[in-house]
Amino acid sequence: MDTLKPKEFLNQLIAIREAFWEQMNAVMERKAAEVTAPWVGKIPDIDLQQPMSEYVVNELKHASILRQRITELNGDPDALWNQPLKELKELWDFHASLGSLCELIASVQFGHEEFFPRTSKSFIERVAPIDSKTAAIYRDTLLADEEGHEWIAPEILRRYATDGATQRKCLEALQKSCELFGKAIQSFNRSMPA
Ligand SMILES: [Fe+2]
Ligand SMILES: [Fe+2]
Repeated sequence: MDTLKPKEFLNQLIAIREAFWEQMNAVMERKAAEVTAPWVGKIPDIDLQQPMSEYVVNELKHASILRQRITELNGDPDALWNQPLKELKELWDFHASLGSLCELIASVQFGHEEFFPRTSKSFIERVAPIDSKTAAIYRDTLLADEEGHEWIAPEILRRYATDGATQRKCLEALQKSCELFGKAIQSFNRSMPA
């Protein structure tokens, strides 16, 4: 190919890297909704059931927005969905296998959802100079919605994880899901186009 100016070359590298990250987030958003949806009907109190159903709607909305953006950027929104990394699949299979509402909440919403705002803030900084539209989507929609549902997981755990056995299961679920999340991120980094 023709030689690029250093800035242009770096921008192309950044574009590939961040597009890949966006693919990963599109999967995460949709999976979060899918593993949580079956538990919404089992939440005893309607003041938590109703915001949790909105949470599911929000995550599916985020997945749709990201998929649309990936398409606009000429990516394939189904690439990672149809053939997820082995470790990414293990993470979500684990979440889906959890046997109680509290374990699920400890593991998904209290656990790795918490990492999303942190990673997104640095993503926004990295992507803003090359793709302001994607940066705006993350800042104005995804992160804004996340702030609105951060309170739900601690409240569910405070209210329903009220015996030692349940609390222990929650701690174990979170411990395990953190390990799997770490492995998924590692394999994601390894699979980045070089
Ligand atoms: Fe989200
Ligand atoms: Fe979220």
